[in-house]
Amino acid sequence: MEKIVSLCKRRGYVFQSSEIYGGLNGCWDYGPLGVELLRNIKEGWWRAMTSREDVEGIDASILMHPRVWEASGHVENFTDPMVDCRECKARFRADQIADAPCGSPAYKGRPASRCQADGKFTDARRFNLMFKTFVGPLEDSSSVVYLRPETAQGIFVNFLNVQAASRQRPPFGIAQIGKAFRNEINTKNFLFRTREFEQMEMQFFVPPGSDQKWFEYWKEERFRWFQSLGMKKEKMHFHRHDAGELAHYARDAYDIEYEFPFGWGEIEGIHNRSDFDLTRHEQFSGKSMKFFDEQTKERYTPFIIETSAGASRSFMAFLVDAYREEEAPTADGKTETRVVLSLHPRLAPIKAAVFPLVNRDGMPEIARGIVSSLRPHFRVFYDESGAVGRRYRRQDEAGTPYCITVDSQTLQDRTVTVRERDSMVQERVSGGDLVAYIREKTL
Ligand code: GAP
Repeated sequence: MEKIVSLCKRRGYVFQSSEIYGGLNGCWDYGPLGVELLRNIKEGWWRAMTSREDVEGIDASILMHPRVWEASGHVENFTDPMVDCRECKARFRADQIADAPCGSPAYKGRPASRCQADGKFTDARRFNLMFKTFVGPLEDSSSVVYLRPETAQGIFVNFLNVQAASRQRPPFGIAQIGKAFRNEINTKNFLFRTREFEQMEMQFFVPPGSDQKWFEYWKEERFRWFQSLGMKKEKMHFHRHDAGELAHYARDAYDIEYEFPFGWGEIEGIHNRSDFDLTRHEQFSGKSMKFFDEQTKERYTPFIIETSAGASRSFMAFLVDAYREEEAPTADGKTETRVVLSLHPRLAPIKAAVFPLVNRDGMPEIARGIVSSLRPHFRVFYDESGAVGRRYRRQDEAGTPYCITVDSQTLQDRTVTVRERDSMVQERVSGGDLVAYIREKTL
């Protein structure tokens, strides 16, 4: 993980939030390459969902009526057990003490579980993870609103609006990508557990009785999506929730887990939420949330199958999955270690880098001309500094799938070499064919 965190900073994938002030725990900023990778992940998800006939998109507001969170169960149930250490004054999640360090300078390096064994902990209390703020000029209980802890509720409350506007009938889904906020007691493992993050959620509304069939369908479909973007199958598995783990709304649930360097961790949850959400919103709002089927003349509350992925967690999983170090030959016949981010070309932030072999003989001008012809179509990068081998290494580490080099042969026949990142195989391509070549390989 340390190598990945350091690469993220060095190459401009991820920076600590407010770094010059010492950072803000659980918050991260995406740099120039990071923002492109994140966008490519979200774009891939959005396309996979909304290119279907049976899925519509939505973008709901982050702040919602506070009753939404009473109906959803978050005010009552979205809590973690929390304990305070009387010794070091730190606060811990009661179920995650084992691997947390004690906060007292006097006990530096000692695990908090020892403080607990010494009887220094308060009794466990429930701590609600929703961030609160106020709407309007009065800061009192009547103006409290929450930063949404999940994007799902914006979909549930709009179910009938979207259904009527798009003339869909169950089974159909509503997809949304957006920020969510949770005041996690222990943030940890880089982007894995943060206080501000993005979710990619799709709620699929189905007639009761067909829910288990759709649950199985979406479970497989979502697993396949990660693989379609190159995630290694042997690093992924399903974890089924047992009765004790099931969320208050879930009838059945599977997590797609990825094997991170720190162990297996959830990247997406697929839940059979039954009719819990629409029934609760009907009770709390007093408005019918039932669907009336014009064809069968039936009125019913659809069941919901939810696919809920973290964009930021997927980002980290794709990065970890792509990272490798290997021995590679150098120009003088030796070998050196190269760091490669083998990101799927569709996810790669920069699709191609363009180099003049030397900074003379008109090569920089030709290379810049190639950059100008590619730039309207793809993110490309021009580099003329240092030996070509060093330039390749820099792009390998940034995850750029293709490097285009202008050399002396280019001056004669207008062809260039194109080198593929993973195999390092080079081929000659006519300069005029480059847009079609890169498009075919990366989009
Ligand atoms: N609507 C259901 C829901 O929100 P969840 O399992 O709590 O379910 C879904 O969250 C996904 O959101 C997780 O699989 C994870 O990828 C992401 N996620 C949840 N909490 C997160 C956090 N604190 N930091 C980063 N990602 C998080």
